[in-house]
Amino acid sequence: MKIMLQGVYKYIETQAGSIKLLENINLEVHQGEFMAIMGPSGSGKSTLLYQIGCLDIPSFGHIFLDEVDISQEPESIREQIRLHHIGFVFQNYNLLPTLTVIENIMLPMQFSGAHKGERKARAASLLRLVNLASKENEKPTNLSGGQQQRVAIARAMANDPGIILADEPTGNLDGKSGKEVLEVLHSIHENQRISLVLVTHDPKVASYADKIFYLDDGKLRATVF
Ligand SMILES: Nc1ncnc2c1ncn2[C@@H]1O[C@H](COP(=O)(O)OP(=O)(O)OP(=O)(O)O)[C@@H](O)[C@H]1O
Ligand SMILES: [Mg+2]
Repeated sequence: MKIMLQGVYKYIETQAGSIKLLENINLEVHQGEFMAIMGPSGSGKSTLLYQIGCLDIPSFGHIFLDEVDISQEPESIREQIRLHHIGFVFQNYNLLPTLTVIENIMLPMQFSGAHKGERKARAASLLRLVNLASKENEKPTNLSGGQQQRVAIARAMANDPGIILADEPTGNLDGKSGKEVLEVLHSIHENQRISLVLVTHDPKVASYADKIFYLDDGKLRATVF
C-alpha cells in the first residue's frame, strides 16, 4: 500500500488554548517500503501514526492510502479501512487475556465475516509465520513479552492488510526478544511486500528500515536514506 501525506497539521484544543501537535507533514511511503519514525518523547510520533492509521483525523491536510483520501471519511468508513487494510502493533501488545492465542488472531477475521474454518486455518498459518505454532491454545499471560508481541503481529496480519503500523513494538522487550520481534516484522515485510511504518527510539531498530524520518516538536526534521 502506498501512503502519501500532504500538508498535515494536527491541533488539539485545551483549556489553555490550541496546541499544535503536527505541523505541515509531507511524506510518502511507497508500496512495500519500510519506514522508521524517530524523535524525542512528545514530538508527535504516535500522533502521526494515528493519522496514518485512520485512528484520528488531521485538522488540515490530506492522507492518501493508495489513491484514496482517508483524511475526512466518516467513522463508519474509517472503521472498515482499519479492519481490512491496516494492521496495528502497539508497545504493550493489547491482546485479550480471556481468549487463547489463536482466538486473539481469529477475532479480526470474525469482524470481517470470514467463516470459522477459514479463520482457524489462516490463524494457524499466521502462528507458524511468527514461530509460535505450539502456543495456539495458551492464554497470552502464559507467554513471554516477545511471544505476546509476535501474537500481536500475527493478529495484525489477520485480514491481509496493505500496511502494518507499529508503535514502539520492541519498547518493553529485552534485546534478544526485541530482535526476534523485529526479525519477524522484517521478514513479513520482505516476503509479502507489506508496507511497514515503525516508531522507535532505538537506532538499531530503525537501521532495519529503508528510510528514517525524524520528528521534532511536530515537524519533520530530516530524512536519511
Ligand atoms: N489529548 C491530548 N491532550 C493534550 N496533549 C496531548 C494529547 N495528545 C497528545 N498530546 C501531546 O502531544 C504531544 C505529542 O504526543 P505523542 O504521543 O504523539 O508523542 P510521542 O512522540 O509518541 O511520544 P512518546 O515517545 O513518549 O510516545 C505530546 O506533547 C503530548 O503530551
Ligand atoms: Mg508515542
